[in-house]
Amino acid sequence: MKNMNFEDELLKRTKDVWEIVESFLPAVEGHQSTVLEAMDYSMRAGGKRLRPMLMRETYRLFGGMGKEIEPFMAAIEMIHTSSLIHDDLPCMDNDTLRRGLPTAWVKFGYDMAVLAGDGLLIYSMETAAKALNFSDRPDRVARAMGILAQKTGIFGMIGGQTVDVELAGKPIPVDKLDFIYRLKTGALLEASMMIGALLGGASEDELKAVEEMASKIGLAFQIQDDILDVTSNAEVLGKPVFSDEKNNKTTYVTLEGMEQAKMAVERISKEAVACLQKLPGENRFLEELIRMLVNREK
Ligand code: IPE
Ligand code: IPE
Ligand code: MG
Ligand code: MG
Ligand code: MG
Repeated sequence: MKNMNFEDELLKRTKDVWEIVESFLPAVEGHQSTVLEAMDYSMRAGGKRLRPMLMRETYRLFGGMGKEIEPFMAAIEMIHTSSLIHDDLPCMDNDTLRRGLPTAWVKFGYDMAVLAGDGLLIYSMETAAKALNFSDRPDRVARAMGILAQKTGIFGMIGGQTVDVELAGKPIPVDKLDFIYRLKTGALLEASMMIGALLGGASEDELKAVEEMASKIGLAFQIQDDILDVTSNAEVLGKPVFSDEKNNKTTYVTLEGMEQAKMAVERISKEAVACLQKLPGENRFLEELIRMLVNREK
């Protein structure tokens, strides 16, 4: 990335990441084409593609150069998108705008939105399994699939979402909020970076260190999301603002105040960068990417 402008490089790599993800999307055809169309719509709507990007950059950090990472990149974006489709449902956050477009349930109805979320969630596993075609280390691919499932499920993102919706409108102590954030948002970032590291050839200790780093990134990322929910606007964000207030959610901002929340994002991101610097190898782009999360506007 020498002498290259980070913003330009980010745009270029986001496009590359999307082309990879897109190549794994199922064709919209057949008797079940309505649900396939809803899946396709939500995947194509946009988004920062941060998780597959973090996955690939962590893979590169450990010297990975193969193609076995690609099905996993698509898989993590499918899981993330499925979580957004379900997160927006009337029974969850009840939001009508996502990635700059009407949410899946608004466009396709509740039934199709539930099924599109389910469809993407399990198609992610079908997709990840395709990595076996590109790898001579089936043991690593199998373990990566295990990490992907675990970080998505009840001990990961879904567990976090459960406590998040259950406690809406109720006071939450900061340690419980921490638990929610580490699971609902942190877990998928952990999966992204751990799978990159694992397939790139990281040792057990390095894998642990990557998990810790990604957990910090997740926490900072969600606090920034809460900040943007009250400071940004729907045009920039591509999703409604004041969604948390509407749902009486306790967030870092309501609990600790805006200034504390901003300081926490800064502090935790710095800790994550320090973790990265302790790892072997160098990836300046990844370092910049983590720093960017603090100042991101969407
Ligand atoms: C939104 O994630 C949901 C959270 C976990 C905060 P992103 O901010 O990564 O959403 P997209 O993928 O860019 O739309
Ligand atoms: C996101 O939390 C958690 C998910 C797993 C989707 P939010 O509910 O704050 O995410 P946004 O703000 O709707 O993107
Ligand atoms: Mg939510
Ligand atoms: Mg939401
Ligand atoms: Mg939010």
